[in-house]
Amino acid sequence: MTTSTALLQVRDLRVQVGDHHVLKSVSLDVAPGALVVLMGANGSGKSTLALTLAGHPSYHVTSGQATFAGQDLLAMNVQERARAGLFLSFQSPPDIAGVKNNLFIRTALNAVRQARDQEPLDAFDFLGQARTAARQLGLPEAMLSRPVNEGFSGGERKRNELLQLALLQPRLALLDEIDSGMDVDGVHAVVALVQQLRAQGTAFVIVSHYLQLIELLQPDAVLRLDQGCIAETGDITLARHIARTGFARSTEPVEA
Ligand SMILES: Nc1ncnc2c1ncn2[C@@H]1O[C@H](COP(=O)(O)OP(=O)(O)OP(=O)(O)O)[C@@H](O)[C@H]1O
Ligand SMILES: [Mg+2]
Repeated sequence: MTTSTALLQVRDLRVQVGDHHVLKSVSLDVAPGALVVLMGANGSGKSTLALTLAGHPSYHVTSGQATFAGQDLLAMNVQERARAGLFLSFQSPPDIAGVKNNLFIRTALNAVRQARDQEPLDAFDFLGQARTAARQLGLPEAMLSRPVNEGFSGGERKRNELLQLALLQPRLALLDEIDSGMDVDGVHAVVALVQQLRAQGTAFVIVSHYLQLIELLQPDAVLRLDQGCIAETGDITLARHIARTGFARSTEPVEA
């Protein structure tokens, strides 16, 4: 993860939400194809970091820099970020009433394809790809023709986020607690999709509280966020240490 090869580079990022200073100083590098796990106590700022990088309008960057594929990320609007290959799966995916899931995802995919100088997919070709991906992810095909997330169970919402990830094939995916609410098959679907996309060069920043998933993901780096700052950086041993001792733990040293 050297600076010169970073796909995402964040330097001293400070972020305010409402009148609350949530991120106080965050710096990180993510290389192409790398997998970084972000851990931290509830309220430490993990979702804030992910939403800020994706361009959510409620999150105000007060200082710092972020580049994505060499471009000034913070100067790009949310659509430009998505077209450049940044993807966020929400911790709590929202409903979009009245918008059919397949139209929503096809519209997003064709916007991304246009940015990559690829021809748009027509409804027939898209549906073929979407059905195959939905089947691999254990998402019933009927979910494709329902309004986005409306009436979906917690696990179905998360699988629907995975469906978008599988079809959009981003350069960098930020997955915010993708495993929460997932059954055991869903967790294995996460791991399989992450491995498949990583093999194609997608980089990941994955927020998770669960060691079992983190072990399966085989991360390149594990970061711990504490009160809006990166407090520790390590490898899988840091995740194991946190799982064993918690966040409000002693100064017990991390053992390899
Ligand atoms: N709109 C807001 N107004 C005020 N405070 C906010 C707002 N959004 C987030 N915060 C606060 O910012 C802090 C960080 O929230 P964030 O959602 O980023 O935490 P998190 O690390 O993702 O936690 P969790 O593990 O519970 O998902 C919290 O204290 C939260 O209450
Ligand atoms: Mg969160």
